Amino acid sequence: MTHPVDLQTRDAIAVITVDSPPVNALSQPVRAGLLACVRQAAADAEVRGIVLRCAGRTFIAGADISEFGKPPAEPALTEVLEAIEQADKPVVAAIHGTALGGGLEVALCCSHRVAASDARIGLPEVKLGLLPGAGGTQRLPRVIGVPAALEAMLTGRMLAAAEFAGTPAIEAILEGDIGEAAVEWLARALDAGLAPRRLRDLPVPGAKDLPPDFFDTARKRVARDMRGQFAPRQIIACIEAAVTLPFDEGLKVERDRFIECMDSPQSAGLRHMFFAERQTAKIPDIAAETPTRPIRAVAVIGAGTMGGGIAMCFANAGLAVTLIDTGEEALQRGLETIRGNYQRSAAKGRLSEQDVTTRMGLIRGATQMTGAAQADLVIEAVFEDMALKQKIFRELGELCRGDAILATNTSTLDVDEIAAATVDPSRVLGLHFFSPANVMRLLEIVRGRDTGPDVLATCLRLAKTISKIGVVSGVCYGFIGNRMLEGYGREAGLMLLEGAAPEDIDRVIFEFGLPMGPLAMGDLAGNDVGARVRAQRRAAGRLPADPRYGAVHDRLAALGRHGQKTGKGIYAYAPGNRQPQTDPEVTALITELAADLGVARRRIDDREILERCLYPLVNEGLRILEEGIALRASDIDVVWVYGYGFPAWRGGPMHWAEHVGLEKILDALRHYAKTLGNDYGYWTPAPLLERLVADNTRLADYRPG
Ligand SMILES: NC(=O)c1ccc[n+]([C@@H]2O[C@H](COP(=O)([O-])OP(=O)(O)OC[C@H]3O[C@@H](n4cnc5c(N)ncnc54)[C@H](O)[C@@H]3O)[C@@H](O)[C@H]2O)c1
Repeated sequence: MTHPVDLQTRDAIAVITVDSPPVNALSQPVRAGLLACVRQAAADAEVRGIVLRCAGRTFIAGADISEFGKPPAEPALTEVLEAIEQADKPVVAAIHGTALGGGLEVALCCSHRVAASDARIGLPEVKLGLLPGAGGTQRLPRVIGVPAALEAMLTGRMLAAAEFAGTPAIEAILEGDIGEAAVEWLARALDAGLAPRRLRDLPVPGAKDLPPDFFDTARKRVARDMRGQFAPRQIIACIEAAVTLPFDEGLKVERDRFIECMDSPQSAGLRHMFFAERQTAKIPDIAAETPTRPIRAVAVIGAGTMGGGIAMCFANAGLAVTLIDTGEEALQRGLETIRGNYQRSAAKGRLSEQDVTTRMGLIRGATQMTGAAQADLVIEAVFEDMALKQKIFRELGELCRGDAILATNTSTLDVDEIAAATVDPSRVLGLHFFSPANVMRLLEIVRGRDTGPDVLATCLRLAKTISKIGVVSGVCYGFIGNRMLEGYGREAGLMLLEGAAPEDIDRVIFEFGLPMGPLAMGDLAGNDVGARVRAQRRAAGRLPADPRYGAVHDRLAALGRHGQKTGKGIYAYAPGNRQPQTDPEVTALITELAADLGVARRRIDDREILERCLYPLVNEGLRILEEGIALRASDIDVVWVYGYGFPAWRGGPMHWAEHVGLEKILDALRHYAKTLGNDYGYWTPAPLLERLVADNTRLADYRPG
């Protein structure tokens, strides 16, 4: 194996080059190489100064996160950093690409930094539930000040190096090859008498001018905006230590807090999500080199809520879209909604007027299906009606080019049945967007029985083009996400009848970390929508013969209490106010309904609320996994984090279940089967759950088939 770190000395300047593709991460061999080269160059009396540069597309882009959670391998990064910082000659970091996390911390231990004009720096550790643990929290405030450093660490955002040109953060922006330019810069600077300068010796600029409540305000802000998260609070504590304590004591605070973060379940959850997201596009029976079809022009059929949002996704990515609806009026309404959305973004400064014009220019309206004839991809988003969808797919099969991909955005219908209406079902699949489609990151890619491998591969690639995370699901009612939602919503409704207050159910789920509870969510989505779906399913014999099932929500819908849109649902809403208010009328209605149905009322504690909402959801996830509807447990986690707001720091429902303990969940299901009864199979454990517990196997290690 070639060494990932190399040392060459020329004209009394040592050039240390890290060359460890793809991103020069600080793996053990890189750390060991850096340490050896720095020591050698520092000890060489002929060497006047050192340049630290990287080969390839970027400066060190961070730690090697595949080492996280494993026993530490020598040398520790801190030892490398100490060697760099203690060198008695100038060490210049030559930054190109991105200096992130541990990479930036390496640069901050150098006595000087120069950068390419497009280089970026950042400390993104918070995204993994961590904090910069190699001095970043102490050194960055010393070069860019406390407010900017705090912002950088709390958001994890990348900053343009050029923003700091001429400050101790980035001495100079250099043109041309950054390594060569840095050597020249250093030679000139040495001639002018440049001496090493350690950032640890600098005062924190502006520290005295910070408002006395600066850190308390920051703590309040993260409690609100980063609800439930552990690492942000630790970051604030570290930066406060940088301001109030001597450097070495600050470092110690950082070390302690870093270890707490590293050991926290939150970081384990976020690290799990990091890998989970990168797994979704890997489909076992589809080779990475499967050819994909070019998608240049898209047609969307149905200019309603979903169709409009879907059209925006493509226009945002620079693709031409034809939006088709039956009549001029519906079409214009759809186009106006899109324009309004763009204009609101422009008013908030997120888009320029030019962007609005460009994007609207990419969306062409049509009222005839022939508008889809030239499209590479057609996405159908008309009413949820099988006969209508089949009619459209029959027409599309005849109208479109033979290689066009035909997709449906159905939430509940059978994709195979829709595909059967075309001449060539291999070109058909589901592309299930979430509402609002232009905002939500998740895209369930529903693989039909006959969907061609290249069709699937094309849509997985397409998901990336439109900045979505595509997760493949098999065909079943509700696919991965909505199928799991069923038990969650069912139990919320049953607990209302049994005596839980709506605001208690929603509070428990909100405190757990979801953006809102199931009842507030129902009010937002519209209780009429759910009632209509239940009615259809009941008629088709697909609902349990349980008179309590959906009873509260059906009654609300019958009374026109459709939720936020009618000002009344489970809660009441004052005009123009989305804040839910407890409504005594609903309390009375539920009590009466419970009496009619013979449901005894009692107090239900928070623990039961949480377990009854989330354990059935997890149990269904295990069925989905065992049936092969989802390819891996982590795909289910991605669906729930990006489609339903399940807190990423809990790692999604399946990772969370493993954290709780599968055995504990199995026991709880059995307990509820006994105490609540199991006439309808609500508490029957998924066979996979029983098997995993019996075999003492981790869900993360389970592979279907
Ligand atoms: N609303 C959601 O949250 C959501 C989420 C995911 C998927 N979906 C699915 O997306 C689809 C559309 O839902 P929506 O909420 O946008 O409905 P919507 O009622 O807002 O829009 C449907 C549009 O389709 C148009 N349309 C009907 N028949 C047509 C035809 N023959 N040709 C062209 N246009 C026609 C209608 O005029 C209307 O503008 C449904 O299958 C639904 O299940 C909805």
